[in-house]
Amino acid sequence: MNHLPPRAPRSWNLRRLGYGPAALVATALVLSASPALAAESAPRAPRHAPSPTLAATQRHAPSGAAAASRWMRLSGAPLTVFAHRGASSAAPENTLVADEVARRGGTKWIENDVQPCKDGVPYVLHDATVDRTTDGTGALRSLTSDQVNALDAGSWFAPAFAGARVPTLAAQLTDLRTRGGNLLLEIKGRQTEAEVERIVREVRDQNMTARVFVQSFEVTSLRWVHELAPELPLGLLRDSLDADPVAVAQDLHLAAYNVSDKGLSVRPAALDELHAAGVAVNVWTVDSSARWKALDELGVDGIITNRPTELTGWVAGRQA
Ligand code: G3P
Ligand code: CA
Repeated sequence: MNHLPPRAPRSWNLRRLGYGPAALVATALVLSASPALAAESAPRAPRHAPSPTLAATQRHAPSGAAAASRWMRLSGAPLTVFAHRGASSAAPENTLVADEVARRGGTKWIENDVQPCKDGVPYVLHDATVDRTTDGTGALRSLTSDQVNALDAGSWFAPAFAGARVPTLAAQLTDLRTRGGNLLLEIKGRQTEAEVERIVREVRDQNMTARVFVQSFEVTSLRWVHELAPELPLGLLRDSLDADPVAVAQDLHLAAYNVSDKGLSVRPAALDELHAAGVAVNVWTVDSSARWKALDELGVDGIITNRPTELTGWVAGRQA
């Protein structure tokens, strides 16, 4: 994942999202409460050649293998950090403030979950209902845009985040486009072709196809995205490994196979098989520094984590 998004304007700050000093202090306290990682981030010699470049020959794929995906990690390069639902250990998940905390922590990629409300407007929300992460109740699909826009998506996490909203996909894309960052966009749950088409249209309308990577557990949604927008890279989310992950990846035109840490642990050799086929492997959702180390050494391309700031710092320490 080699995009370098534009830097956020220096003048921007959290207050533009309605967050004052209390939210910033709360975020700092949460971050500072994280376990020290210094002991595990000691400098080490890189396993691969230093000097990462864009040359495909330096990727993990062995010679003679299928063309390496540009989403595969370069030899000697750090793995990609994906902020799972934003910096969700430090701020309310799937909100713009969680994205901003991740951005300020140096994370280049935000993961989110997208599904439609009653009006068909795509919103960034993980659960099928708004109950857990807002002050409202009910299924997202039963609520109008006006109702969703009125919800408080921050107070459940901490009082300092009161007033955070459930973002529309459009608002999140605008935020990333103007302030920096890329999006690992999860099409959450079963959606109709029209609903998937709307998601693709919103990405295209904001000229964000080069900064969006689509993933889903739903095979049908991935097929539709490929038909509608073959330029968008695709990742298949899996709890467990397929018997033949390479065959699945080729059938679905995958750029990445995004498997759970537990799933990959059953047969880590699948990583080399996918790399040989030119398919990147990103692992979720990993918050333990012991697992970061193991997966880094295994050679995964990216890690999806609730602790992106800590993982970004840990990766930098490993590279130093
Ligand atoms: O990105 C991987 C992860 O987000 C998939 O699980 O339930 O958190 O959407 P979930
Ligand atoms: Ca997700």
